[in-house]
Amino acid sequence: MGDKILANSNKQLKRFESIVNSDKALKKVKEGDKLKVGVDLGTSSIVLTVLDKDDNIVYGAYEYDHAVQDGIVVNFMESVNILRRLKAKAEEVLGVELKTACGAIPPKTGEKSAKVVANVIEETGMLCTGVEDEPTAAAKFLRLKTGTVVDIGGGTTGISIFQNGKLTHVIDEATGGFHMTLVLGGRYKIKNEEAEKLKRNKDKEEEVYSVIKPVVEKMAAIVQNMGSEVNDPVIVVGGATNFDEFTKTFSKVLKRKVYKPLYPQFVTPLGIAMFDN
Ligand SMILES: Nc1ncnc2c1ncn2[C@@H]1O[C@H](COP(=O)(O)OP(=O)(O)OP(=O)(O)O)[C@@H](O)[C@H]1O
Ligand SMILES: [Mg+2]
Repeated sequence: MGDKILANSNKQLKRFESIVNSDKALKKVKEGDKLKVGVDLGTSSIVLTVLDKDDNIVYGAYEYDHAVQDGIVVNFMESVNILRRLKAKAEEVLGVELKTACGAIPPKTGEKSAKVVANVIEETGMLCTGVEDEPTAAAKFLRLKTGTVVDIGGGTTGISIFQNGKLTHVIDEATGGFHMTLVLGGRYKIKNEEAEKLKRNKDKEEEVYSVIKPVVEKMAAIVQNMGSEVNDPVIVVGGATNFDEFTKTFSKVLKRKVYKPLYPQFVTPLGIAMFDN
């Protein structure tokens, strides 16, 4: 079940990764074509995704940012400026104007933060067609009807359980990749910026992972605490899951198979665009 879901998603994620931030499109588009646009205002980066009307990937780009904290926009103008740049670049590469976009917020962050996300989008000249729940967007991209999505980003861990296409349980915890960075910084007595670089250094992965493994175990324990509500397959997404041993640790705590797609940080942003109808 999980393997089948991942096979299809991985094919698309590989294609997306091959063009993201490359100023290239996967498909030619022309004036009048319906495009679906996703805006993920994350704690770590702002991602813009563009799909065609049949959800085929067309284009994508991102910029790192600090304008969003724990899923909440804390610097409105900075978010707008980044999104303006991403939109302008997309329009230059595609040769058409982006007219609509869908946004997303972590579960349970409420009406107010949804409104802020919509305002950021509309400030760049696009009509905001909706603000989705982030894990629901991830599940949409994964075409997951029954199962559990754990989205571990920079500042938040969202756990969403689906049953026959319906969201039955959702939890959002203020922990994520930034927490791992803090633990690394503390262990080596280095500043956050340096710790962040060390965390992403593939050559140091084994050493880094041994330090941050307890954080991963704690994240898995949050899922474990949801008990019998957890549905299979359990799929982890989000940038903070980018460690080879990540699913192994999760599986051990949860005592069940855990799946992770390729380039897990792009799952939610691509799912958001699928809601731009
Ligand atoms: N190769 C990597 N190795 C380890 N961690 C990584 C890697 N790439 C990204 N991360 C971490 O993933 C996190 C960002 O993930 P993601 O892009 O999913 O977050 P976001 O959507 O911006 O944040 P949030 O969902 O919390 O608002 C950061 O903490 C970053 O350090
Ligand atoms: Mg995110």
